[in-house]
Amino acid sequence: GSTDFDLFRPSEEHDMLRESVRSLAEAKIAPFAAEVDEEGRFPQEALDALVANDLHSVHVPEAYGGAGADALATVIVIEEVARVCASSSLIPAVNKLGSMPVILSGSEELKKKYLGPLAKGDGMFSYCLSEPDAGSDAAGMKTKAVRDGDGYVLNGVKRWITNAGVSEYYTVMAVTDPEKRSKGISAFVVEKSDEGVSFGAPEKKLGIKGSPTREVYLDNVRIPADRMIGEEGTGFATAMKTLDHTRVTIAAQALGIAQGALDYAKNYVKERKQFGKAIADFQGIQFMLADMAMKLEAARQLTYAAAAKSERTDGDLTFFGAAAKCYASDAAMEITTDAVQLLGGYGYTRDYPVERMMRDAKITQIYEGTNQVQRIVMARNLPK
Ligand code: CAA
Repeated sequence: GSTDFDLFRPSEEHDMLRESVRSLAEAKIAPFAAEVDEEGRFPQEALDALVANDLHSVHVPEAYGGAGADALATVIVIEEVARVCASSSLIPAVNKLGSMPVILSGSEELKKKYLGPLAKGDGMFSYCLSEPDAGSDAAGMKTKAVRDGDGYVLNGVKRWITNAGVSEYYTVMAVTDPEKRSKGISAFVVEKSDEGVSFGAPEKKLGIKGSPTREVYLDNVRIPADRMIGEEGTGFATAMKTLDHTRVTIAAQALGIAQGALDYAKNYVKERKQFGKAIADFQGIQFMLADMAMKLEAARQLTYAAAAKSERTDGDLTFFGAAAKCYASDAAMEITTDAVQLLGGYGYTRDYPVERMMRDAKITQIYEGTNQVQRIVMARNLPK
């Protein structure tokens, strides 16, 4: 149809979704953003508002009780939540990250068992890949899953786990055959209530302080064999395929944070008067705003293109996911740093939101693979 030519314009439905998430985020999430950051507490108000409006995990397919939103719609939800509170945007983002292995590779039984409760808001999902000594080198993990009768017994420590402790469900990658490195890793669903699961103290972080990051300890956790996601030995590939999709959601988070900072700074410079006029009237300020908006729009186009790739199987998603995440996170760091600069001394204080946005932006260059790892991924998967 005619919409096929509208390459650079989201559909009317996407625009309407953005409008509704924006007003919800401004009314129900923004008022708590500063407090959530200051106190380093979980944004329960955001979770409640997102669940009440069915926005906490829009990516879950309709067949399993979800909204069946496409990747662009998911991006828009995350963008709009991140625009007011980056910590809260990790609710929809990590629900996608944690459940994508089940969606991509899980059995019908696993999908039915776990995606329904996720879609209903009865339990969040976290993703357990990294370990204290296995970050960028994810395949160097030590956590083991040993077959024992009709189940597996898991032992190990997972680190940097977003929403650990608040999530009910955990996708855990573990070594089932130590001889085979990445081909000897399998993925499992572990439940918070499984015996032997416990959590470390919350990390004291620079930003996204409302999103709990904790270690997950697996101490002789016995789970039935049907909790394995896909075949034995396919867990690493599933984990990487998942990241192909969800690096797009980190790009979305970066876009949202940057948009929040740009919107704030843009209004501020109109109000702030020096040398007898609004500082917005100085060309030096105008050039900064122009650069910020230019970088943001370039990052947005790349992210939306990556979201479109997320719906296809033409093989380019790996490059586009990495490129969008890398580019948008660097843009967000630059844009939020410039927003602090535009507010001057005020920007450096907690009386204004831009210093929080700058601190929150930093993590987007680090998690779901550092931007150095993204370059490894891009170089190995250059567009055909
Ligand atoms: N799609 C499908 N399969 C893939 C794949 C992809 N995108 N990437 C790798 N694989 C599979 C392949 O089967 C491959 O085997 P073949 O060579 O036979 O094709 C196998 O995995 C091994 O792949 P590599 O040889 O590329 O593995 P590697 O050890 O060289 O590692 C890496 C590659 C890109 C560096 C990878 O380790 C990586 O992405 N590291 C970063 C990890 C990361 O992003 N962690 C983020 C944790 S999640 C998080 O941060 C969220 C949170 O909660 C805070």
